Amino acid sequence: MSIKIQTLSGYLHEYQKSVLEPEAFWNRVAETFHWKKQWDKVVDWNFEEPKINWFVNGKLNITENILDRYMYTHGDRPAIIWEPNDPSEASRTLTYKDLYEQVNQFSNALKQKGIKKGDRIVIYMPMVPEAAIAMLACARVGAVHSIVFAGFSSTALADRINDCQAKMVLTSDENYRGAKVIPIKAVVDEAVENCSTIESVITLCRTGGEVIMKQDRDYWWHDVIEGESTICEAEEMDSEDLLFILYTSGSTGKPKGVVHTCGGYMVYAQFTFENVFQYTAGDVYWCTADVGWITGHSYIVYGPLLTGATTLMFEGIPTYPDAGRFWDVVDKHKVNQFYTAPTAIRALEAHGLDPFKGKDLSSLKVLGSVGEPINEEAWHWYHDHVGKNKCPIVDTWWQTETGGIMLSPIAGITPTKPSYATLPLPGIQPVIVDEKGQELKGNSVQGNLCIKYPWPGMIRTTYGDHDRCKQTYFSTYPGMYFTGDGVKRDEDGYYRILGRVDDVINVSGHRMGTAEVENAINEHPLVIESAVVGYPHEIKGQGIYAYVIADDSQRSAASLENEIRATVNKIIGPIAKPDKVQIVTGLPKTRSGKIMRRILRKIAEGQTDNFGDTSTLLDPTVVDEIIENMK
Ligand code: WTA
Repeated sequence: MSIKIQTLSGYLHEYQKSVLEPEAFWNRVAETFHWKKQWDKVVDWNFEEPKINWFVNGKLNITENILDRYMYTHGDRPAIIWEPNDPSEASRTLTYKDLYEQVNQFSNALKQKGIKKGDRIVIYMPMVPEAAIAMLACARVGAVHSIVFAGFSSTALADRINDCQAKMVLTSDENYRGAKVIPIKAVVDEAVENCSTIESVITLCRTGGEVIMKQDRDYWWHDVIEGESTICEAEEMDSEDLLFILYTSGSTGKPKGVVHTCGGYMVYAQFTFENVFQYTAGDVYWCTADVGWITGHSYIVYGPLLTGATTLMFEGIPTYPDAGRFWDVVDKHKVNQFYTAPTAIRALEAHGLDPFKGKDLSSLKVLGSVGEPINEEAWHWYHDHVGKNKCPIVDTWWQTETGGIMLSPIAGITPTKPSYATLPLPGIQPVIVDEKGQELKGNSVQGNLCIKYPWPGMIRTTYGDHDRCKQTYFSTYPGMYFTGDGVKRDEDGYYRILGRVDDVINVSGHRMGTAEVENAINEHPLVIESAVVGYPHEIKGQGIYAYVIADDSQRSAASLENEIRATVNKIIGPIAKPDKVQIVTGLPKTRSGKIMRRILRKIAEGQTDNFGDTSTLLDPTVVDEIIENMK
């Protein structure tokens, strides 16, 4: 039996215990899982190296806690309900028994193709059940999956494959996305040209579109599983063996591979899922994220399936064929818990209330929000029109690095407050620090958010570069994990996330490093230098504003701007395309050559004076020129 908080006093009690005796607390949670061998010690850690080992010497396979566990207790319960992009195509349901068989079959296929424990496999797939099957099959045989969101370009895909030295890529022929069909196998072909470690590519036939299959490298999914057994013994994994790598953006140019391991991640994903959403057997839960992001990992696949839940997987987008699609899907499958991003809520809000006509939505019990701060207006719209004033909203704050939800209401149990992630989950010890790293105690304080004690789902390292992990997360404030977010604790002790305090921007809930976008822009042959900042955007949360010094003697500024957008599209993908590009002759720099981003941020926000101390500016006329031509 899992540990499920049922009352407010239950929460307060568990929270207290989890802080006073964290090891006893997590020991109790971990005991609710099936382990091949018990751990010797709950946690062995220091934040200096950092060293983070949970459930030391424990042995397990995460898939046994999904497949073997639920196959016998409720094999006929739907594990995955799949809703296709096109509503006229039939949806699919996979029971726990189906999932058991299909994962095992694909696991055997992976072994046949030479995959061994520890090998890395990159998954570049649409939102189809096979993406979840692929993840679980990797975990079953001990391979490490690294999913790359299928909207990334071939260059971005190749970078990630090379960074983790993957042996295999799993993909599909094409990908449906709204009215578009995207030939993703072709993207893989282009990427793999530059990846010497890839031995094979397995392609799922999703659309039946034309693809080129390379002899002795490329195989069809349906061919490799043919004749394979539906039984495959689960590899014995150590708690700290790698489960997956997920690349995410930071303040430097190169995305980093966040590493999560088997034991701790399993415990944390399940515990947080069941508690935050208050999932009850028989409920249908739907998270609209993509498996290419951490939300898809923890709260479409692992968290729900480890709970024996029914998880809905949606291939499409919120506005196809129209802006009522989400609500059609909720009614069609009688969804009880619905989890989405503020950017989707704001985009739908812009369509008005017409899309709700004829929709019932009475099955909904809990609404969730994730990925970026939810503004009060969107919160109320969500609460009133989607939740009909009766569903608690869980505003869940967390990160790729945290593995699971950290700050959030517990649905229907702890209080909610518009645009507040409210309180820490049991086991989480947040602290607010000032610039100097001094802890700000008590209520009504604001500063940078850190966590002072480890939790099972946390990042272990950045793949291939442990020092980078240390520098990024454990050096700014020694002895603490630094989140990169600003936060306020109000007079009642509730937390409100204020957004990033580093050079990371959050565009439609997608994390982007400004340096990463600048590097892409600088690839354009006529570009000399660029500076990228975020600015408030009504729907996306933040938009991307690029100031670019470029040689515009050969083109009109307009066509140069478009070429720059196309360059970013090619190097990273459509999600990183700047909303605004301004060609400038100079950037505001200090005498020592540092770009004063503070000024650029203010201009992007529409501010034209009050730039604070500008005495260190090398050439103040640059600022006047930028303001004169601002977008
Ligand atoms: C932001 C997504 C405010 C935050 C799960 C964090 C949020 C970054 C919230 C991580 C929230 C996520 N309220 N901000 N509820 N959830 N964020 O790694 O800035 O894609 O640091 O993980 O998103 O983004 P990531």
